[in-house]
Amino acid sequence: MKIVVGISGGSGAIYSLALLKVLQELKIETHLVVSTMGEYVMDHECGVKLDELKSMATYFHDNKDFTAPIASGSFKVNGMVIVPCSMKTLSSVSNGFSESLLTRAADVNIKEGRKLVLVPRETPLSPIHLENMLKLSKIGVTILPACPGFYNHPERIDDIVYNIVGRILDQIGVDNDLFGRWQGV
Ligand SMILES: Cc1cc2nc3c(=O)[nH]c(=O)nc-3n(C[C@H](O)[C@H](O)[C@H](O)COP(=O)(O)O)c2cc1C
Repeated sequence: MKIVVGISGGSGAIYSLALLKVLQELKIETHLVVSTMGEYVMDHECGVKLDELKSMATYFHDNKDFTAPIASGSFKVNGMVIVPCSMKTLSSVSNGFSESLLTRAADVNIKEGRKLVLVPRETPLSPIHLENMLKLSKIGVTILPACPGFYNHPERIDDIVYNIVGRILDQIGVDNDLFGRWQGV
């Protein structure tokens, strides 16, 4: 399995760290691309520099490198996750404005009919944000807000983080037991 992981400059860098860790443990091939603000927020929120991030992925691609394999639909991947997905990146993807490798790779996943999962983090949401999300949802893109459930009574930040990571993995078809599933009362 090959998964593209995009990190943009929304809050919630901890989600992408946890996702990369799990994918690495599962020996799933990852292609990582990080925006400039994604790199900044990662360092600011988690104290993780780009070099460490690179070591968590199978392959790392510079966000300006349009010659990277993930820029082409002929390079087969199983899907892409953008986590966290900033409102700017969401807008670029929703408008096909592929000015970076990250947004180009998302564009490629859409045109090839592959799985694309966006994990937006913003509040409150403006009509522009909502329209961009609706447009993408209508063409099959999964909008998975970083909006963890609390019905499992989380005790640690990790419980909250892995709730979202587990839901992301569900979407890309990776079996996991990272979070408690509701079994009814
Ligand atoms: C500490 C910090 C937190 C941010 N959090 C968010 C956020 O949660 N959602 C969002 O859409 N933008 C957020 N931003 C703003 C984005 O980083 C900014 O819009 C940037 O242009 C996004 O660029 P990118 O999509 O290319 O990464 C944040 C910026 C900083 C410095």
